[in-house]
Amino acid sequence: KRGAGKIEEAEPWNKLLLPASSLPTDPALYVGPFPFYRRPSELGCFSLDAQRQYHGDARALRYYCPPPTNGQSPNFDLRDGYPDRYRPRDEEVQERLDHLLCWVLEHRGRLEGGPGWLAGAIVTWRGHLTKLLTTPYERQEGWQLAASRFQGTLYLSEVETPAARVQRLTRPPVLQELMYMGYKFEQYMCADKPGGSTDPSGEVNTNVAFCSVLRSRLGNHPLLFSGEVDCIDPQAPTTQPPTCYVELKTSKEMHSPGQRKSFYRRKLLKWWAQSFLPGVPNVVAGFRNPEGFVCSLKTFRTMEMFEYVRNDRDGWNPSVCMNFCAAFLSFAQNTVVQDDPRLVYLFSWEPGSPVTVSEHRDAPHAFLPTWYVEAMTQ
Ligand code: A3P
Ligand code: MG
Ligand code: MG
Repeated sequence: KRGAGKIEEAEPWNKLLLPASSLPTDPALYVGPFPFYRRPSELGCFSLDAQRQYHGDARALRYYCPPPTNGQSPNFDLRDGYPDRYRPRDEEVQERLDHLLCWVLEHRGRLEGGPGWLAGAIVTWRGHLTKLLTTPYERQEGWQLAASRFQGTLYLSEVETPAARVQRLTRPPVLQELMYMGYKFEQYMCADKPGGSTDPSGEVNTNVAFCSVLRSRLGNHPLLFSGEVDCIDPQAPTTQPPTCYVELKTSKEMHSPGQRKSFYRRKLLKWWAQSFLPGVPNVVAGFRNPEGFVCSLKTFRTMEMFEYVRNDRDGWNPSVCMNFCAAFLSFAQNTVVQDDPRLVYLFSWEPGSPVTVSEHRDAPHAFLPTWYVEAMTQ
């Protein structure tokens, strides 16, 4: 007699080492112990200036400078300066992994972990990993990730879905202003120099970014990823990155238990995923009223965010997020077998469906630039 679970073993065609053709995303499939996740360490950093030019240093890093806690509430007008003092980044420019590849190219000869480490690693943006972590709970926005293997390394680069492109091009004015307000909050909370003061009279230029480059490992997947960091707290108990970094967020003031529940279920999941990956310990939230003023601040500890949903049947579970991400990385590793920077596997996901994959060569999906491939081949 054969048990149902043994059928795979009995069917020889299942033993062919063919990669799976799809990956399910149902949370129930990923319940289990929290997988191994190496404490993220910072390998380096880079900055993008007001013209979006790359610099291999920390010039764009800002310093956490909260308002004095003398009993007064803050009163930050997040709409101030909109739209006259707003220089939004050109979102038509698809930067893909370019800035991160620039950093990798500059540091490839002196990466910790030895010369072979990069060949076994996955290189991507933190934001792409954040989307993977939240996938089992996401009900609205799908994603596409392009993957290529080159000199052993697996590179993952997001592709804007047609739906996301339509949303971006038809973004209503209120949403554009809300985006501005998130960046404006950073300006009220950060100084350009340690011990300096904030200057909300200046422009908000979203070309400027400071990015940390981190090393970690999820299960047996070594990771090299980069993420934008809002600021460093010069007063943090430890000055060692990423532990001294602070993530800033804005959110609507909450007035009812229902609003809080929904905040814990949706927003805190995203905040947790974004900051847990790089090991950023604190998220400082500014709560804005309907007039767009931040009148209260609250610090959320990344490692305590799960407590808000631990006893909620419709909450999220960090193990599910991380187990799904590990499963996706294995799926990608097993799919992208050929080492060829012009060969691309496009992983596509829409809520309610499994992740599927298609194969492409060259434009428009190939994303490893010639300058990178040639310099790495020298
Ligand atoms: P909030 O964080 O207050 O939402 P980040 O928080 O990652 O540092 O991003 C800073 C701001 O960029 C956000 O402020 C928000 O205004 C804008 N932003 C980031 N990701 C966005 C997205 N996917 N869609 C729209 N706006 C986004
Ligand atoms: Mg940011
Ligand atoms: Mg932020």
